[in-house]
Amino acid sequence: MLKTLRIQPNGGDGLRPAPVTIFVNGAPTTAYPGETVATALLAAGSARFRTTARGAPRAPVCNMGVCFECAVTVDGRPGTRSCMTLVADGMRIERS
Ligand code: FES
Repeated sequence: MLKTLRIQPNGGDGLRPAPVTIFVNGAPTTAYPGETVATALLAAGSARFRTTARGAPRAPVCNMGVCFECAVTVDGRPGTRSCMTLVADGMRIERS
């Protein structure tokens, strides 16, 4: 028999831990421990992670730490690869 699993947004489903709050350009956003910053931003609907000097939008490409297209500022550290950084409660992320 096929069993249906429902993932609850409050983390009470036993499938993932309770959520934490990160701040994206100052806005509180829900994320889950174990997620990367890139995953949390994509889940929140972010399509632009940074902007080039010529104004072109950029977002994750490789998702394995090679291309740097996902670079954001995390807790004041610019150029942080969001695909290689795990979320933490209270983390502050700035997109450019
Ligand atoms: S997506 Fe390529 S380094 Fe993060």
